[in-house]
Amino acid sequence: MTPAEYALDLCDRIAACTDVAGTTTRLFLSPATQDVHALLRAEMHTLGLTTRVDSAGNLRGVYATGENAAPRTLLLGSHIDTVPNAGRFDGILGVAVPLALVRMLDGRRLPFAIEVIAFSEEEGVRFRLPFLGSRALVGTLEAATLARTDADGISVAQALCEFGLDPAQLADAALTPGTFAFVEVHIEQGPVLESLALPLGIVTSIVGQTRFELTFTGQANHAGTTPMHLRQDALAAAAEFCIATEAFARASPPLVATVGILRAEPGAANIIPGTATCSLDVRHPDDTARVAAGQQMLAAAALAASLRNVHLSARETSTQASVPMDAALQAALQTAAARAGWTPHAMPSGAGHDAMILAAKVPSAMLFLRTPRGISHHPSEAVLLPDVEAALATCLHLLESLEKAQSSK
Ligand code: HGY
Ligand code: MN
Ligand code: MN
Repeated sequence: MTPAEYALDLCDRIAACTDVAGTTTRLFLSPATQDVHALLRAEMHTLGLTTRVDSAGNLRGVYATGENAAPRTLLLGSHIDTVPNAGRFDGILGVAVPLALVRMLDGRRLPFAIEVIAFSEEEGVRFRLPFLGSRALVGTLEAATLARTDADGISVAQALCEFGLDPAQLADAALTPGTFAFVEVHIEQGPVLESLALPLGIVTSIVGQTRFELTFTGQANHAGTTPMHLRQDALAAAAEFCIATEAFARASPPLVATVGILRAEPGAANIIPGTATCSLDVRHPDDTARVAAGQQMLAAAALAASLRNVHLSARETSTQASVPMDAALQAALQTAAARAGWTPHAMPSGAGHDAMILAAKVPSAMLFLRTPRGISHHPSEAVLLPDVEAALATCLHLLESLEKAQSSK
């Protein structure tokens, strides 16, 4: 098995660790996460890494340096949680490629340690707050977050305890001292690289995102006896908001806005919906434009509600500013790719990534791989074997340039 085939085989094996049969679905600290940890720990031990799970549920493998010097560490990795009915590569590829890279070293030690991390939570599905795992590394996992509850009323703290972890020990999830860089390998999840017929991209910045929860409260009533002008139809108000959001975003590129969740209650064909709840995900490279767009879309929600004598409540559930990637690390990746015979496309990331959290504490960069048909957050998400080979060759050249830089100090 070639290193690239090994990486893809590992992605396939991890994708089979799921909480919903027939799909790849693995939320924060779900039972299937234990299976992924067991699988990855076995691989890491075979490759000569020592492993631990920190108190935020991040699995961390360390390929020790060959020198006695105070170890500097290169951090590589991505997340192992998924969206519901996910693809096989979002996040996971960013753990499999570093392990394939260590495999390519074939026991050779470097003048720095390599830490491979599998972040416990990036998508923000279970607790409606993304980046729980990486926030723990940089100290931005707020105490209040531990009290946040999921759909079953289980808090983050309880979820950690049920997984066998101790939220009182979260300090052990801190960034390893001496970590000098974080590089995240990830699929692009969009159509740009494919449209350019390029295998690799280097991320210049990661766009900011804000997520909201909106609740429209009208009056449930009989669908047959209530005249149209006397209704307080919560779902109709939410539906008008969805259409207004789409129209606003279409008219304001590169803004993107998405209503990914829409629920109506009580949810019977012959009852006018009394309550409708929905999500709103707003993203823009410019933070001022993103915040303004969010407010304008909330105003559209308020208008849609008021026209129907429906009450609106809206709350921001998470917000993350745009984050530039480290310029020197981007340049090192470009040089490494050139040595491997590739010219990656420099591009922003519309998707959020753990690198945007780590960047607060350590120089961070991302290497993108082409996403065939630009499909992601979907079972048909794919990656091409030659592109994984290109990424591995680039990463190997990056290690060699970091090794030279380290040895010349
Ligand atoms: O939603 C995102 O941007 C990422 O896939 N978590
Ligand atoms: Mn994702
Ligand atoms: Mn991801």
